[in-house]
Amino acid sequence: MMALRSLGVGKKNLEHRIHNEAHQLQMALTSKEGLAFDPQTPINHAVANVICSLLFGHRFASEDASFNRLIEATYLIIFIPASFRGGVYNVFPRIMRRLHGPHQQAFECNNFLHALVKDEVQSHQGRWKEGKEPEDLIDLYLDQMAKSKDEPTSTFNEDNLVQTVVDLLIGGTVSTTTTLYWGLLYLLKYPDVQEKIHEEIDAVLRPSHVITYEDRIKVPYTNAVLHEVMRHRNVSITGPFRKCLDDITLLGFPLKKGTLVLPNLHSALYDPKYWETPWTFNPEHFLDSFGRFASNKAFLPFSTGRRSCVGEPLARTELFIFFANLLRAFKFRLPDAEKEVNMEAINVGTCQPLPYRILAIPR
Ligand code: HEM
Repeated sequence: MMALRSLGVGKKNLEHRIHNEAHQLQMALTSKEGLAFDPQTPINHAVANVICSLLFGHRFASEDASFNRLIEATYLIIFIPASFRGGVYNVFPRIMRRLHGPHQQAFECNNFLHALVKDEVQSHQGRWKEGKEPEDLIDLYLDQMAKSKDEPTSTFNEDNLVQTVVDLLIGGTVSTTTTLYWGLLYLLKYPDVQEKIHEEIDAVLRPSHVITYEDRIKVPYTNAVLHEVMRHRNVSITGPFRKCLDDITLLGFPLKKGTLVLPNLHSALYDPKYWETPWTFNPEHFLDSFGRFASNKAFLPFSTGRRSCVGEPLARTELFIFFANLLRAFKFRLPDAEKEVNMEAINVGTCQPLPYRILAIPR
């Protein structure tokens, strides 16, 4: 968290990395020249490049084969463990490890991500010098390793560096991409919502203005729509398993040491005590009677507590800047050949829409 903060997460100087990717994304959509396309890949490239530039200090070209393999691996490493085979593996790991089948792909993806990150670490080590201004998370971690090299209990070592970077790559790519992918689908489903966003953005965010995270205050409706997308189609239905380290009482329930706890985020995001129309997509959930943005304490897509999402400030900044930029630049519509917007969700470790196609009409 310290490293992310010193790279500008939660501060202004992170935003230039996001603007650069928002611009690349806009160019990618403009190049479709009004033809129908699936927006997942261009969104994925933009989002993955933000986290790559924070971790590695550089971005990848869209056509780079290892970049595309990296993106594929971040998905499969979540999808496969959540599949039937992944479930069987969890029960019989020793047997399944020896058997062929799609579950073996999860290990290949893990090996690929570790090898890619190890290469990056090595090239950083080659140019690392004590006192050199750190440019990315790997540099910062290497600094920390050097500072704590004489501490026998330090956990700053190369293996933990590689694993931390792999975790951030996976966490920083799939959830944010999926949220934006859902966001565009909701705009197809609710054209009136899209029209209201266009009106709001046109009134306060001129085309020459560089959209910043602070601008969310000027466009409360746009911000409310984004929050409602995250509430209504939260990407992580539950948080990951946590294990009780002691006997405890949680909300009046006695839990023994060793009990696994799976936080049900969905129950908070759909709690009728906190949301007027929990099952309906309703941006008004995040607006007060004066049309100002209103937060809600049951809004927990990033979970809560000490182990809540480490990437929340980055995700919030990215989501707003990408979403507002896209809506200022384009009107999104369903292709003529397609009659209905399919809002069905599939749960593959994360809650994903079915692949869809879109028209991006420059405004
Ligand atoms: C819309 C975007 C995102 C959503 C909805 C989301 C959601 C979550 C959730 C629910 C957790 C589990 C927290 C818990 O165990 O209580 C989590 C953990 C995590 N997220 Fe995110 N996340 C998003 C974006 C990001 C980004 C951009 C990054 C990278 C910078 C990231 C990195 C991580 C990591 C590394 C963890 C594990 C933290 C730990 O175990 O301590 N996430 N995220």
